[in-house]
Amino acid sequence: MKVSKLLIGLFAGALSLAAYAQQPIVIKFSHVVANDTPKGKAAEYFAKKAAELTGGKVKVEVYGNSTLYKDKEEMEALQLGAVQMLAPSLAKFGPLGVRAFELYDLPYIFPNKETLYRVMDGDIGKKLFGMLDAKGITGLAYWDNGFKQMSANKPIKTVADFKGLKMRIQSSKVLEAQMKAMGANPQVMAFSEVYSALQQGVVDGTENPMSNLYTQKMHEVQKYLTLSDHGYLGYAVIVNKSFWDGLPADIRATLNKAMADATVYERKIAQDENDDALAAVKKAGTTQVYVLPYKDRVLWHQAMLPVHKEFEEKIGKDLIQAAYNVAAQVEKEKAAAATAPAQKDKPGPTKTKK
Ligand code: LMR
Repeated sequence: MKVSKLLIGLFAGALSLAAYAQQPIVIKFSHVVANDTPKGKAAEYFAKKAAELTGGKVKVEVYGNSTLYKDKEEMEALQLGAVQMLAPSLAKFGPLGVRAFELYDLPYIFPNKETLYRVMDGDIGKKLFGMLDAKGITGLAYWDNGFKQMSANKPIKTVADFKGLKMRIQSSKVLEAQMKAMGANPQVMAFSEVYSALQQGVVDGTENPMSNLYTQKMHEVQKYLTLSDHGYLGYAVIVNKSFWDGLPADIRATLNKAMADATVYERKIAQDENDDALAAVKKAGTTQVYVLPYKDRVLWHQAMLPVHKEFEEKIGKDLIQAAYNVAAQVEKEKAAAATAPAQKDKPGPTKTKK
């Protein structure tokens, strides 16, 4: 009799162990933006790909719109292992002690997306990811959002228009300096608090790519929008290092594949999401949209450029120079492509007349 009880117990134990072993590995992926944004959609895309490619061995739970953690909290939660994956803005790594990431915040540092992607996917991007190791974090990929626009409850056309404006920024020293360079008064605030702060006049304005501005309904509480493309906002997809290193190698390899697919998808939709958001803001008619003319772009650029010098030490003169070199290389290639004779005009091998 006793032996059978033992066997049943062992069998049950084995069963639950097997059942437990069948449990999927759960990845909690927290972020602060709306779901219908480049990052929101790509997080869902990654979740689907991860489940598909691992045959259900991994379950990615996406918590968007600060539902699980707000800005500052999510970084702490990642380091504690309470959440496994995030995709914070590149402007939010300073408080972690890696100010070099604020390279991405320098105004007008990226003249175009080619330069941006080469910086992200090249030596500079890798070097910055390397700095996260010591924080118990591993960088997996860079995701795109877009160039930022300025909005406020009074028209902002000239540098002088910024005087005394309270402008909400992300937790970046470079952005603080940028707003001060324009004569404004920068206010760091969690993303989830911006709408009500604008509505109540706690701040007068802010800066963001269109997809964030529209999906957070900021256009409902901002009378004026200036299309300035004065800076860039993108993301780093990061994981808790010990969680990631602890994964079975085959699972990690498959998740890297899923992340690579999601990154291609994310970058493909980013510009469209921003263009659609701008069209929707124009249609809503609650905000006057102003395109900053070239002559004023030059003046804004001149006013903001001293920030680059100011942060040479904190970010690293070599990193900033390396980004300038990438931009110059892209310009050179564009110029060469523009002057290269079109394929059809190229003299080919002389055809012997048949
Ligand atoms: C912001 O705080 O404005 C952005 O970083 C939000 C985001 O993640 O795009």
